[in-house]
Amino acid sequence: MHKHTSLLRSGEAVQTLTITTSWKTLQTFATTNLTIWLTMLLLCSGQLRAQLGTTPNIKHIVVGRCYSYITLVNPSLRFDCEEIWRQFEEAVLRQSSCNVTVENYHLMFYSIPQTRPCDKFLFWSKTRTLMQSYKAAVRHFWTLEDTLVGFMFNDLIWCGQEEQPGFDFSSCPAWSACRNHAVYSLWLQASQTFAEMACGNITVLLNGSIVNAFDRKSMLGSVELDNLNPQRVNYVNIKVVADLQGPFIESCSQGSIVDLIQILQSRGFRWTCTHNDQTLMILQCVQSPKQSICQTYANSLSHRQSHIHQV
Ligand SMILES: *[C@@H]1O[C@H](CO)[C@@H](O)[C@H](O)[C@H]1NC(C)=O
Ligand SMILES: *[C@@H]1O[C@H](CO)[C@@H](O)[C@H](O)[C@H]1NC(C)=O
Ligand SMILES: *[C@@H]1O[C@H](CO)[C@@H](O)[C@H](O)[C@H]1NC(C)=O
Repeated sequence: MHKHTSLLRSGEAVQTLTITTSWKTLQTFATTNLTIWLTMLLLCSGQLRAQLGTTPNIKHIVVGRCYSYITLVNPSLRFDCEEIWRQFEEAVLRQSSCNVTVENYHLMFYSIPQTRPCDKFLFWSKTRTLMQSYKAAVRHFWTLEDTLVGFMFNDLIWCGQEEQPGFDFSSCPAWSACRNHAVYSLWLQASQTFAEMACGNITVLLNGSIVNAFDRKSMLGSVELDNLNPQRVNYVNIKVVADLQGPFIESCSQGSIVDLIQILQSRGFRWTCTHNDQTLMILQCVQSPKQSICQTYANSLSHRQSHIHQV
């Protein structure tokens, strides 16, 4: 299940959500052993997820998001949303859900080429929430979820079946249950395409509060890194961010980040690495201003401010 969540990005969100909503329940059972409860909840959520079927109304969602993208997000694009849906159906409809390879999606991907100005590509692993506020604050960043394919299929589930209506709406297998999972194959192709496109300075956002911040089994470690092109990428700027209250497990000189740097170096990339980026710390402080480090920081800022006023 662990491998599962590290691969399925939308799954990461599902799990975070489950943990936060379950937290209230946990508090009411404060006397019970928390570890046991948490383990049980995680197991339950894993089982539930494996049994979820194709997202209801998937066609309306996908086609609607596609129109939303080409009309509101990037009006310069001229794509045929109905045709994209048709190619998606071609790839998955009536197929056994464990028998959809990346090749099945090639036609769809070829029909929606996208390019992007350099220096804006943002890669991340296990930092979803922070990545979202970082993107909202530093507007220019571009992630997989901002590509048309990422935008259309984010957080959706699907799998085919031979019988009508061609999608299985009652249950889909877990990712770990098969080698050529319909959802996994799409994200595999999307991640690969995204990494191949990357150029100029790229940013990699990693979580310093966990072991294996750079996980060779994650999409970043298994697909995106291998498809970055040293001829197109100028610098790989790594940012390691730990939670404000810790734990402080990995840094630029500690843990799996060192492996990442070694891989980059051996493939001829130039790189930088920081584990105390100021912008990212301020963003974390906006979320939890009561943290002592944020109070210290705010005090030093207000000193500077009063100084300016006095001048
Ligand atoms: C898997 O897909 C291939 C090609 O699309 C097909 O020839 C084969 O019969 C499929 N196998 C199963 C078990 O559905
Ligand atoms: C790091 O991972 C932990 C555990 O998944 C998570 O709770 C935390 O929010 C993450 N921290 C950052 C900075 O993304
Ligand atoms: C790219 O990154 C390097 C190293 O961090 C930096 O010196 C340079 O100014 C960056 N260039 C752009 C265009 O951001």
